[in-house]
This record gives sequence, structure tokens and C-alpha cells, in this order.
Amino acid sequence: MGGGAKRIEAQHAKGKLTARERIDVLLDEGSFEEYDMFVTHRSTEFGMEKQKIAGDGVVTGWGTINGRMVCVFAQDFTVLGGSLSETHAQKICKIMDMAVKMGAPVIGLNDSGGARIQEGVASLAGYAEVFKRNVDASGVIPQISVIMGPCAGGAVYSPAMTDFIFMVKDSSYMFVTGPDVVKTVTNEIVSAEELGGATTHTSKSSVADGAYDNDIETLEQVRRLFDFLPLSNREPAPTRPFFDDPARIEARLDTLIPDSATKPYDMKELVLALADEGDFFEIQEAFARSIITGFIRMEGQTIGVVANQPLHLAGVLDIDSSRKAARFVRFCDAFNIPILTLVDVPGFLPGTAQEYGGVIKHGAKLLFAYAQATVPMVTLITRKAYGGAYDVMASKHIGADVNYAWPTAEIAVMGAKGAVEILYRAELDDKDKIAARTSEYEARFANPFVAAERGFIDEVIMPHASRKRIARAFAALRKKSALHPARKHDTMPL
Ligand code: HXC
Repeated sequence: MGGGAKRIEAQHAKGKLTARERIDVLLDEGSFEEYDMFVTHRSTEFGMEKQKIAGDGVVTGWGTINGRMVCVFAQDFTVLGGSLSETHAQKICKIMDMAVKMGAPVIGLNDSGGARIQEGVASLAGYAEVFKRNVDASGVIPQISVIMGPCAGGAVYSPAMTDFIFMVKDSSYMFVTGPDVVKTVTNEIVSAEELGGATTHTSKSSVADGAYDNDIETLEQVRRLFDFLPLSNREPAPTRPFFDDPARIEARLDTLIPDSATKPYDMKELVLALADEGDFFEIQEAFARSIITGFIRMEGQTIGVVANQPLHLAGVLDIDSSRKAARFVRFCDAFNIPILTLVDVPGFLPGTAQEYGGVIKHGAKLLFAYAQATVPMVTLITRKAYGGAYDVMASKHIGADVNYAWPTAEIAVMGAKGAVEILYRAELDDKDKIAARTSEYEARFANPFVAAERGFIDEVIMPHASRKRIARAFAALRKKSALHPARKHDTMPL
């Protein structure tokens, strides 16, 4: 009963489930094995000896999601606001240690007022123990954080070091310092929702990867994501039975690319057409929308997809989209998930805002992440692949294994108009001449064959056959092995 019937009622009145109810929704029925139910805190200050509640504000244990093992901790806001004490932290650490040993992901359901104020430094030490484990487990087991209530101070840094963060709309928020402190220090008046609500973190800060309407929908979506992920880095990406023909012909793709090169189209149509059963789990849907990231399956196997989205800013690479995709590529590579890259990119976004913001370093993150990845990588260029962005978007040169292009692909240093304006500046006043130069440039470079002649593109494929060709490429790469020279670690451009 945690903090008692009254507090449970208050939790429900806010539209929130209790820790145990959440675990019931997250895990397969009857699969939860609880540990440390009798643990209590040892604090005697501020009258705490009179406030001992079995479990100390966090429910921990393991269970299964569709039959696969997962370790879980769920903070109980009804017990001292889910605040983290020394023993509360020890319970979380125990379950994380177990997860690493067993090779099972950890899912944390966070609902906490942060460090237990009555315990002082003992609570801070507890946080740091959790942080250290988050880092040690990074790249070993997938770690997922679900923010289901307030999350302030120390409570945000543990989620920040996990692989995915999901929030519940209108009932969860995350910030380092709350609205009152913000007002005192910077004079800004801001609500908790504006400062650290789900909309802020999914569309502005990119701290969170997704947000859903309520506790139940959020937990259902976490179950869906879980099915795409391997249990640890010791295992290949999971495969599951599929009922979709890998050679399925998609005639609609033959007309996906509009006649005009400046007209946008929805890259998501291609992603859905390639995926088994059209099932796509998108990561960071509301942030940096010029790039799409997420998981599909092909022949039952999980594939990470990175795709430029011409519907937003023409699919340009900028600071945000580079960071978003780089993080995703590194997750896939760490957990043996093959990567499919769909390219239609006009280049990097010009401008002072981008340059002052360090687009060079941020763009380099994506380049670095791809160049370092050793998982199977297949790339398909649908239309534009211009300039540095051609190199960055999983080109053959930086490590992609199979590179395809549609006949509509244009692989060049830049678009025809820009190129002609630079090369033939003296002739700019003569419209006819410039038109002829532009056609000449287009004929030479606005196609995939110059790259194909050099072997940078392995094959020019027809759009309708894309699913079949890509599925076959990944099938051929299933046993790919690649090693990196020994070193302590790289110095990626963080
Ligand atoms: C002990 C806490 C607590 C805390 C809440 N409670 N936070 N107890 N330590 N940190 C208790 C309350 O006393 C109350 O007890 C119950 O939890 C519910 O809290 P309410 O305030 O009634 O709930 P609500 O109005 O919903 O507000 C929730 C809240 C607020 C926004 C989280 O409680 C709050 O601001 N708490 C303090 C947050 C904070 O500053 N934490 C420290 C952050 S610093 P009763 O008995 O009445 O039910 C930090 C440092 C770590 O974390 C740094 C590591 C790097």
C-alpha cells in the first residue's frame, strides 16, 4: 500500500498510476519477481525513525515483456514523494548490477521529488552510485527511463545517461532546477510544464525521445520499443516471426519522387513501405524533423533507420538533426542493430546561427558515428546527395556495406543552379547561356551513374524493388564481422 490509501487516492486524482500498477501494465501478467520488499531506510534525523515504510519508496525486481527478461525499478511517489534515500538507491543499484550480470535491459519508472532532503549527503552519495552504474552499463544493456511524475535535481541525471527517455504528457516534468529557483536566479517566470514538460523536452531540448497521453499508453509504447531491442550487447538484434513477403513489390514507390527537384515528398512513406507489416517505432519524432530515426524490421530482424525528411527544411542536415541521428547511430552500433540510411539531403544548413552554434562539430558527430559503426549498413539514395552531406550520410567511403541509388538520384558537390552560378559567374547576365550550362551540369551530375561508374554506388535499383533488394543486402550481411584497432577510446567531437 506504499504511503497509504489517502496518498494513493491523491496519486490517482492526478491521473497517475501507483508504482505497482505501472509494473502490472509494463510486464507480462504474473511475471514480476520482487526483491527487497522489506528494506527500510536507516535515517533517524528529522523524526524519520517514525516514518519507516517497507520498500522505502521504490519497487524493484524483474519480469518479462513478451517473454523476454527485463529488470525494473518503479519509484513510489506515495512514500515520501518517491524521494531517493541511501537504501532506496541501494535497491536500484542492486537491480542494475543484476541486469548487467544477467544481460537484461533496465527500465526505470521515475516519479520522485529527488534527493531525500532529510538524509543529506547520504542521499547524494546514493545518486552518484546510480550514475556510476548508468555509465558502466551504457552500451552493455539497453537502459530505458520513463518519466511519470516530477523529476528534479539528481533525478534527471540518471535518466539523462540512459538510452531512451519517455515522458507522460501533462503529468511529468524534468529540470535541473525548478521554476522557483529559476525565478530567483534569472528573473524568468515560467511554469513547470513550460520549463520541463513533455512538449519542451520532445520538441525543444531533445532530452526526451517520445511522449504519450497517459501512464498506460506510455507503458504500452515502452513494451513495443522493448520488442525491437536486443537484451544486451552480447546478443544479435532480435528476430521474430514475420508474415510479410521480403520480396514484396511496391509500385507506388515508382512515383514517390515528384517531377520537380524542389518539391518535397514524405520519406516516411518509403520507410513504411520497406518495413515488415509497415511497423515503425519512431524515436524523437517531434525534434529535428528534417531527419527521421527509428526502428523497423526486415525479415523479422530489427533494423535502425536514419532518413532525411524532404518535408521539413528540404531534409537538410543541421546542428539538431546531426546530433539526433548521431546518437541513434551510436545506439544501433553498440547493440548490434543493422542500420539502413535513406538519403535525400541538399547539404548542411548555411547561416550564422548554425556556424556560431558549432554545426561543424555537431555535423562531425554524425560523420564520426557512421564512420565508427561496424554493424551491417545499407544506404539508399533516393534523390539528392549533395556535398559533405553525401559523405556523411553513410556513404561507401565511410563504411557502408551496400550502397544503392534510385535512377532519380543526384550525387554532386551541389545543385545545378548553385554550381553554374559559381563556375560561370561571368555569363550570369546571359540567361540562355546559363540555361544551357545548367542543363549540361544536370546531364552530367544529376544522376547516379557518375558515382556508379566509380563503384561508389553498387547498383542503381528500381524504387518498386527496394524492399526486396535491401532485405537481400541485410541477409547477405548477417554474418558481417569487423574489428577496430585497440585503443582506450576515441576522442569523438562531443
Ligand atoms: C523528502 C519529499 C521530497 C524530498 C517531496 N517529499 N520531495 N520528502 N525529500 N526531496 C514529500 C513531501 O514532503 C510530501 O510528504 C510528499 O513527498 C509529496 O510531496 P508534495 O510536495 O505534497 O507533492 P507535490 O505538491 O505533488 O509536489 C511534488 C514536488 C515537491 C514538486 C516534487 O514535493 C518538491 O518540490 N519537492 C522537493 C524537490 C527538491 O528540491 N528535491 C531535491 C532536489 S536536489 P507528505 O508526507 O506530505 O506526503 C537533488 C540533489 C541531487 O536531487 C543531486 C545529485 C547530482
